[in-house]
Amino acid sequence: MFVPILIEKSDGITLQEQICRQIRQGILSGAVALGSRVPTSRDLSRRIGISRNTVTLAYERLIGEGYLHTRPASGTFVARVLPQDDRLPAPAEIVAAPTQRHQRQAERRPPLRPVGAAGAFSEQAWPVDFWLGIADPDLFPLKEWRRHVLSTLDHHGGRIGYPPPPGGVLRLRRAMAQWLGEHRGIEVSAEDLVVVSGSQQAFNVAARLFVRPGDRVVVEAPCHLEAVQVFEAIGAELVAVPVDESGLRVDRLPHGPVALAYVTPAHQHPVGGVLPLDRRRKLIDWARRAGAYIIEDDIGGEFHYDGAPPPTLKSLDPFGLVLYCATFSLTLGAGLRLGAMALPSELTGAALATKKCLDNGSPWLEQMALANLIESGAFTRHVARLRRICRDKRDVLIGSLRKHFGEIRLTGIESGVHVGWMLPDGAPDAATLRRAALEQGIGVHVAQPSTINSVADPQHTERALYLGYGSLRRDQIAEAVARLAAIFAACREDAAD
Ligand SMILES: Cc1ncc(COP(=O)(O)O)c(C=O)c1O
Repeated sequence: MFVPILIEKSDGITLQEQICRQIRQGILSGAVALGSRVPTSRDLSRRIGISRNTVTLAYERLIGEGYLHTRPASGTFVARVLPQDDRLPAPAEIVAAPTQRHQRQAERRPPLRPVGAAGAFSEQAWPVDFWLGIADPDLFPLKEWRRHVLSTLDHHGGRIGYPPPPGGVLRLRRAMAQWLGEHRGIEVSAEDLVVVSGSQQAFNVAARLFVRPGDRVVVEAPCHLEAVQVFEAIGAELVAVPVDESGLRVDRLPHGPVALAYVTPAHQHPVGGVLPLDRRRKLIDWARRAGAYIIEDDIGGEFHYDGAPPPTLKSLDPFGLVLYCATFSLTLGAGLRLGAMALPSELTGAALATKKCLDNGSPWLEQMALANLIESGAFTRHVARLRRICRDKRDVLIGSLRKHFGEIRLTGIESGVHVGWMLPDGAPDAATLRRAALEQGIGVHVAQPSTINSVADPQHTERALYLGYGSLRRDQIAEAVARLAAIFAACREDAAD
């Protein structure tokens, strides 16, 4: 089925533009299936009562933008791989035939990009995907998890009828406080830990605590866009600070007051730098002067491969400015939606109230199972095993890339579960290579497009591919890299023609 196209002749927007917008929006919103056939220009022109020439020109534009493509003797189709389009749809595009009042409301909406369907149960998954942000899902300790869930239900099943504590189950908070002390050098009491449904919720709690419309929020460029969108949605003024291969360029931090700074020091997302100790100290000093709180997104912190990692920002912070965010999305799985925030004591009450306001507390059954897993020592053993296996996969990936591509420049190999591959001069750009790989069923990734990338080093955006190795087996990694070599060689030949 195709989108119903409603033409408004007196709307001040050209007919061609109206057709383009509505088809584009239909594709982005998922109303029109990727790969589906679109009506012929003759057919559509008859249906909507617009000249065929105008429809043809609209199709040509969408073909140029990468939303549609033609197959000789077959017709015109929606692309299977959408262009990495940096432009947000104007709110008016989201709402069909709005009243003036709706239009005004829509204009006030936060400018969020429509989300894709990627996820465990989505239908669109590439046969081989170098996913970012996933360690080895096959290693999830399913047997132990099942045992803990069942025994919790046996002993405490009646509790299902009651709401959970908003800050989380105390047993889990205690177990985590001890784990963070032993493994991340963080001294925090169970009372100052708030269980959240993944770091994404921690970013929301922090933003609601400190950010008001117009406040300045520092973010890394390039950056984890899901976090940035939280600040954008509240109306923050984003101050993007570029990163290099060691993480945030602290020499580029802004002067003047800042409400919040969001950083990924354990494995900068996506470039992969591990922030050196002296920069960590400078960042905390700067935050003190700027009046800023720092969100420390410790994703990848458990996956440091070679030598000891630098201390966490939280453990270095004498002023109580760091809001530390841990997630179980890498170590156990993003489907659990479990994480925790370690807060300065004076902020805990407000954070708890905010968490309660968001969802009244996270489901307690999984929290109990997780508390059991940590208390029994199984979680620590699991993380150690995962780290060993991920290091091994990283080595296979690096070895395969070198075998097929020779001397290459990689970033982020010290920690985390993905690497950045900085493309050499003369290679096609990252978006072209990504498209070519996707067409052959291999998912490789690029920095998420965003206006904040305008201050980033182009080597980290247009000229970098990001490859996650956690979710693939060793043999899949080696085979996929060999296939990438052939795909990229064909791409170079096409460019030379
Ligand atoms: C930089 C970064 N932080 C955090 C997360 C995890 O978010 P959550 O804990 O909400 O699953 C991801 C996941 O991909 C990420 O890339």
